[in-house]
Amino acid sequence: MHKLFKIVTLISILALFFTNCSSQEVSNIPEETTPTSQSPTIYTGEKVQTIGISMPAAQLERWHIDADLLKTLFEDAGYDVLLSYGDNLIDTQINEINQMIDQGAQLLIIAPVDSDSLGSCIENANKANIPIVAYDRLIYHDPYLLAYVSYDNYMVGQLQAQYIVDALDLNNSDNDSSFNLEIFSGDSADNNAIYFYDGAMSILEPYIKTGKLKVLSNQTSFYGTSVSSWDTSLAHERMEVLLSSYYGTNQQLNAVLAANDSIALGVSEAIESSYNKDNQVIITGQDCDSSNIQNIRDGSQSMSIFKNLNNEAYATFCIVQNYLNGVSTGDDLTEGYDLDFTIRRDSNTYVSDDVYITSYLLSPEMVTNVNIDEILGNSQE
Ligand code: GAL
Repeated sequence: MHKLFKIVTLISILALFFTNCSSQEVSNIPEETTPTSQSPTIYTGEKVQTIGISMPAAQLERWHIDADLLKTLFEDAGYDVLLSYGDNLIDTQINEINQMIDQGAQLLIIAPVDSDSLGSCIENANKANIPIVAYDRLIYHDPYLLAYVSYDNYMVGQLQAQYIVDALDLNNSDNDSSFNLEIFSGDSADNNAIYFYDGAMSILEPYIKTGKLKVLSNQTSFYGTSVSSWDTSLAHERMEVLLSSYYGTNQQLNAVLAANDSIALGVSEAIESSYNKDNQVIITGQDCDSSNIQNIRDGSQSMSIFKNLNNEAYATFCIVQNYLNGVSTGDDLTEGYDLDFTIRRDSNTYVSDDVYITSYLLSPEMVTNVNIDEILGNSQE
């Protein structure tokens, strides 16, 4: 993890391979209402000295990197930082955030375990005029949410699915040939997971409809394929069950859409131990965790999605600094900073309680064994 951290800090964002990919996103706007624009203003102008950072889980590599990056940025700028990790448990995260409020946090940066369940923390923060930034995962029901900073989650799913389409050469294969796919979506409590799924299905569904791609388990819905807590061993177990139930002597498994690297790891472990055909199963992923990078080099995982966490953390830092310096949330809160990466300010995708949330979205990149060195550098293992 430490090495990855060091490497990540060296990486500058590279031109996207997939600039043509549509980043059109799904939104959960109730059909009959037109959301209004967000106009949060909760900061009183009092000097902010202490920032609380709440990550959702210490179990996953990326949240340590995010936390280290954010902590360093804010400490170097003279703030005190309180940090907690949530343990993938809603109640634990709520307690930790409430504790940070008690300990004097004056602004909160939160990647929620569950986007929908921070109720009491939001109430407490609102009462104490503490602004909240939703980091990577959206937070619902905060009328004063300062901003949502993330990667384009829909595009993540599109990149994963397009990889499968291209690797199986679905557009050029014989009309009567078909391929078998299984789907592993992310944690259903995590708001991003549905965006990853929808992005991927926007590409895969046409092939599933024509029968070019078959899902032998018939498990294709978001909830039916969701892996709780993004847990490696749950993904491993489900893959074992699918292999023994549907991929016996006659059936090959060609591809697995795995929503992130912790899931991909469980899938590849199960394939390694229990799949007995000669073909290389295509497996997608996301986050470029160290063991998955190794698996991409070895060929047991096909791709991952690289999200430059330096950029996500730095964008968050700039947004907070501008806000505390009095820039209006109606303006671009990254202005004045010389960012060497693309970030899209979006005010018409994410909706909470009929209000559009101002989002700042970065662009994900695909990593395969062809471009791995170019994107991540040579010395990551
Ligand atoms: C998502 C995040 C992904 C991945 C996943 C599991 O919300 O966007 O990058 O880390 O959670 O933690």
